[in-house]
Amino acid sequence: MASPSDHHATVIDGKAIAQTIRSEIASEVSILSEKYSKVPGLAVVIVGCRKDSQSYVSMKRKACAEVGIKSFDIDLPEDVPEAELIAKVDELNANPQVHGILVQLPLPKHINEEKILSQISLEKDVDGFHPLNIGKLAMKGRDPLFLPCTPKGCLELLSRSGISIKGKKAVVVGRSNIVGLPVSLLLLKADATVTVVHSRTPDPESYIREADIVIAAAGQAMMIKGSWIKPGAAVIDVGTNAVNDPSRKSGYRLVGDVDFQEACKVAGWITPVPGGVGPLTVAMLLQNTLEGAKRVIGQ
Ligand code: GUN
Repeated sequence: MASPSDHHATVIDGKAIAQTIRSEIASEVSILSEKYSKVPGLAVVIVGCRKDSQSYVSMKRKACAEVGIKSFDIDLPEDVPEAELIAKVDELNANPQVHGILVQLPLPKHINEEKILSQISLEKDVDGFHPLNIGKLAMKGRDPLFLPCTPKGCLELLSRSGISIKGKKAVVVGRSNIVGLPVSLLLLKADATVTVVHSRTPDPESYIREADIVIAAAGQAMMIKGSWIKPGAAVIDVGTNAVNDPSRKSGYRLVGDVDFQEACKVAGWITPVPGGVGPLTVAMLLQNTLEGAKRVIGQ
């Protein structure tokens, strides 16, 4: 008889799944170029020089080039006036070569994030962060023009791993505008019974223990222990936390919100960090940009 310690979760290979999606996108992009002489365009705007944001933005721009999407790179200084950023967004809204606009978050404190996100044309809101798109995501029977990339990537990982959502108990850990809140809405739309736990929830593990699907998006290194996971559950780890590691040349390594080694002994499926959700976020952004371009062309 196998003892519980022999169990090993299926590790979901986000990198491989994202690569498959990226090649599907690349072939669609080349058809658009050949048939309609249209090249999808994505504007990626970054304000300031936060190291993490710079690294995300450079991954997004490189991924565009790889699938044949034209990227418009806008790098603005930390102290750019809000009015100047708004003018830039307006210019991109009016540019017919641009089908998607992404303003990397977080923005410096002197800039009103809500104002900027609301300024992006709904038809170009490839991040799905416009309040109207989020509002439609929250409502029954309404469909946003774009779904936020990381939440969409989480559901794509589940569906491409053969994990159904309908009727399942899902627990989302974290309630951020970028991940926790929209992924909970998306799971609800997919007919899960959804609980959101957060920093003010007493005894979060009592909810997590009941979950068939756990989406961890708290931004707390390895806070979810193996003993909190229901045997056989699907665990999607969105956390990307840098922890000190003197054995690495860089001095740090990335870990998720879940204690991966422990959770592997209990979960049915689990995503690694890195190489789980991260590559899907980028792939979904490319997919949204392609969708935006196709909508304009009428395809
Ligand atoms: N900051 C962290 N994640 C994201 C994202 O998906 N989009 C944008 N625009 N900013 C982010």
